[in-house]
Amino acid sequence: MQRVVFRSHGSPSVLEHESLTLTPLKPGQVRVRNQAIGVNFIDTYFRSGLYPPPGLPSGLGTEGAGTVVECAVDVSCLQVGDRVAYVQSALGAYSTHHVVDQHRLVQLPDDISCTIAAGGLLKGLTTLCLFNQVSQPKSGDTVLFHAAAGGVGLLACQYARRQGIRLIGVVSNASKAALARSAGAWATLLVHEDIAERTRQLTDGKGARFVYDSVGRATWQASLSATASRGHLISFGNASGAVENVALAELARAGSLTVSRPILFDYIRDSTALQVAAQAFFQCLREGLEVDVGEIFALSQAQQAHFLLESRNTTGSIVLVP
Ligand SMILES: NC(=O)c1ccc[n+]([C@@H]2O[C@H](COP(=O)([O-])OP(=O)(O)OC[C@H]3O[C@@H](n4cnc5c(N)ncnc54)[C@H](OP(=O)(O)O)[C@@H]3O)[C@@H](O)[C@H]2O)c1
Repeated sequence: MQRVVFRSHGSPSVLEHESLTLTPLKPGQVRVRNQAIGVNFIDTYFRSGLYPPPGLPSGLGTEGAGTVVECAVDVSCLQVGDRVAYVQSALGAYSTHHVVDQHRLVQLPDDISCTIAAGGLLKGLTTLCLFNQVSQPKSGDTVLFHAAAGGVGLLACQYARRQGIRLIGVVSNASKAALARSAGAWATLLVHEDIAERTRQLTDGKGARFVYDSVGRATWQASLSATASRGHLISFGNASGAVENVALAELARAGSLTVSRPILFDYIRDSTALQVAAQAFFQCLREGLEVDVGEIFALSQAQQAHFLLESRNTTGSIVLVP
């Protein structure tokens, strides 16, 4: 098998390729031959060291889709030949073959391709979780959503429009703004604008009831100021760096705000929750939600994929193909 490995933290250039011999499966494990691998911003956090991997050298990636090629003897719910997808494997999805715990796999319906699953499952489950579990905006509510033309962002724009939610998307350039609007954003703002002031202009001076911020350090203050009194600020990522040193009094001064720092995996704690969430996402796809796979790279081009993702020059999802 081939995999991407990093032996130290740093820029995308620390990503290397290596050939390995397949190891025997342990109880409960399933070997998947990947057909498509999801690239997620969280992968850059593990590579850079913002999130520590269990050890070095380390594989990378937690999302993929493909075919079961081997099952441990005690695995009964899956068999060789099944098409499957996963979003929360151990690090190592950037590989030709990945070993995944049976409880972290979902059967892939015939009408969902591996590319769409790898490009959309983690981002789609995140979107559903943000709008249904972490917070529950209602039809007619106005929300602010950063990085609205990204992988999660374009799904959020579409989902919000389906629900009648007025999503104000923040993006870094005009073409991303046009894409976010065509996906369903009610309005768009550019990152260099006064985000709080413009959000208040669009909400009769009130601010957004819900603010979804995955950019982190660079946008935290603007997000606080853009949130309506007694609104909910959901900080769910660190694309520009981690938010640190938050004083609770700041939340009081900003209007008695609620702040969440959710991680999808705390909302999908077992196989049942994973199956339910995945089926809900597949149903959204059947009803017209689209995964925009903006870039497809060969597995051997993982470095390029990371450089591009961090350059802010991508829209939608990135997929690697072994
Ligand atoms: N908490 C969770 O469970 C969870 C789950 C999934 C994803 N996430 C988070 O959701 C966010 C989106 O993930 P994704 O994989 O779909 O990525 P993405 O949105 O496709 O890419 C990140 C986007 O962030 C924006 N950005 C702003 N400042 C940036 C900076 N300094 N460097 C790089 N990008 C910057 C860029 O959009 P503009 O150019 O338009 O600003 C960029 O395209 C990430 O922060 C990720 O960690 C969290």
